[in-house]
Amino acid sequence: MESTKYRVKNIELAEAGHKRIEWAKGRMPVLGLIRERYTRDRPLAGVRVAACLHVTVETANLITTLIAGGAKVALTGSNPLSTQDDVAAALAKEGVSVYAFRGQNEEEYYECVEEALRLEPNILLDDGADMIATVHQRHKDLIKQVSGGCEETTTGVVRLRALAEQGDLKIPIMAVNDAETKMMFDNRYGTGQSAIHGIMNATNFLFAGQTVVVVGYGWCGRGIATRARGMGANVIVVEVNPRKTLEAAMDGYWVMPMREAAKLGDLFITASGNLSVIRKEHFQVMKDQAILANAGHFNVEIDRPGLEGLASEIREVKEDVVEYVLNNGRRLYLLAEGRLVNLSCAFGHPPEVMDMSFANQALVVKYISENAAQLKPQVYSVPAEIDNSVAKLKLDALGIEPETLTHEQKEYLSSWTSGT
Ligand code: ADE
Repeated sequence: MESTKYRVKNIELAEAGHKRIEWAKGRMPVLGLIRERYTRDRPLAGVRVAACLHVTVETANLITTLIAGGAKVALTGSNPLSTQDDVAAALAKEGVSVYAFRGQNEEEYYECVEEALRLEPNILLDDGADMIATVHQRHKDLIKQVSGGCEETTTGVVRLRALAEQGDLKIPIMAVNDAETKMMFDNRYGTGQSAIHGIMNATNFLFAGQTVVVVGYGWCGRGIATRARGMGANVIVVEVNPRKTLEAAMDGYWVMPMREAAKLGDLFITASGNLSVIRKEHFQVMKDQAILANAGHFNVEIDRPGLEGLASEIREVKEDVVEYVLNNGRRLYLLAEGRLVNLSCAFGHPPEVMDMSFANQALVVKYISENAAQLKPQVYSVPAEIDNSVAKLKLDALGIEPETLTHEQKEYLSSWTSGT
């Protein structure tokens, strides 16, 4: 592979990163199968992909799959604290243009997005929509050549739907997040496990017998609540949507508004996708030593400026844990500046689940490049054939065989005449 430019923390970390990427590769069989096909058929020859994704071992395997298919790829991180520096180094050493390092400030973060866009991409892969937003705001010149973009996460899809609603979306978007083989697995089992992992890594918190407040009961919140309960916690759910609130109640959780939950929680985990879901009036009534963690995409869910405003003292007590001593004398602990706790304090979702998310991504990149002429600037669902094929391939890889319908059953399901 030709050597290209990169911006990483330490290229010496490449070997360690390479080993970890190989480990993940062995646990991503569906992506592996797609890589084999892409290596043979080169369906992405001539395609230029700029990706703004969390730079993890799983992402590395997606990137090398796209390259195996013939694509040129430039990669930047999608969060200032989520880049795994050894992975960025390993990719850079293999010749990938990677612009990402952990601990970027906002200026460096957007400099890296700009660097990746120098590839003059025809396809954008985004996680949170920062790259697609950058193209719409500052790189309108690129729009004409972009065939489409993929969005990996709920927050990004919400942003891009808002852009479309305003009539300002200029490129076709595939909502990869919303594919069933992505959302129901990555968001639920991935976030459920990796958020708990991040919190335990940062604090060694004991879940058993403690009260955990989960804010937001989408797929991520459901996953977190299930796993927290599995660890023995008493779980309270805070949710605004009436149907989801009802679901949480019937799933057996305590359900209440944040003003009540704030007084009871030992640990708070946000996964709402919304702004200031925990704020001043809540901090003021929290118990001494309560812990605050966010599992949503952006660091806006816990109102950090509000917390700072209430604090008489702020200090880092250990890596990724900052103590705020409030004027009432109580101490609150914020993890990873309120950024994604699963990627800032742990490894993010496990490879087994990212296998399905990134199989969707890899197949959708091919779909965009083959269907560019028909696609319009709107937000599309992932075609059902792609979603179903990922499910089938994953079942094959796991050695799980579903039941098949008999001819009679198929006929029964497609008729309306037989009743009582
Ligand atoms: N988002 C959550 N977990 C991830 C992972 N392991 N890799 C890439 N993106 C992620």
